[in-house]
Amino acid sequence: MPTIQRADGREEFETDARWTDIDKYTLTNLHPSSRPNHNHFSHAIENSQANGLPDIGVPAVQGKFFAMQCRMLNVTHSLEVGTLGGYSAIWLLTENPQLRVTTIEFNPHHAKIAQQNFEAAGVADRVELLVGAGMDILPTLLKEVEDGKREQFGFTFIDADKGNNWNYFDYATKMSKPRACIVVDNVVAKGKLADENAAEENMMVKGGREVVERVGRDDRVDATVLQTVSDKDYDGFLIAVVK
Ligand code: DHB
Ligand code: MG
Repeated sequence: MPTIQRADGREEFETDARWTDIDKYTLTNLHPSSRPNHNHFSHAIENSQANGLPDIGVPAVQGKFFAMQCRMLNVTHSLEVGTLGGYSAIWLLTENPQLRVTTIEFNPHHAKIAQQNFEAAGVADRVELLVGAGMDILPTLLKEVEDGKREQFGFTFIDADKGNNWNYFDYATKMSKPRACIVVDNVVAKGKLADENAAEENMMVKGGREVVERVGRDDRVDATVLQTVSDKDYDGFLIAVVK
């Protein structure tokens, strides 16, 4: 399979003309440039790239898929762990006028660029951007939910430090409404998920395996993993429903 060296120096990603051509073809038909949010995405990507953020945001087709989950569930409050440049949150917010997003970002520079991108997309008034480590911020959010000071979440997107996948999932489950959806990005780890030996040195595999195995034993949720190809890589996410 051909590979592309990432401009940000990260591990090169697999590519295939069929994957990129089909994303291009389907997006041109199903999310054409006449859509009102179309330019917000190219702006967010360009501004993120110009400011040195890594090119590891979700593919456009997945951003739209998660936005559609929010629409199908009529989600009013969504949680995201790992804002990066705000690209996925911009998908959720611009496709769902009823939605508010609480999003946590560890890196203050990433948060600053995300804030610029939210303002440019006209969604900043529906974003609560919290800067800090997920494991520092989530206990506070949980207490607020338990005290009735914060709405339970209907959709959570976990896309941050992979070693905390399970910890973030556990917090999200405690703060979710019944029938809420929780997604954990990148568990397929470029096809290495089933390789238990790879888990020793690869945090994406280790974190992916931990969350898959613990979710499988967790009576609060039901879940599946979808492998994906796209214009970005071979990967895949876990998608769970809270009982
Ligand atoms: C990486 C992280 C991501 O969240 C992603 O979607 C792709 C790649 C990474 O750390 O390499
Ligand atoms: Mg990711």
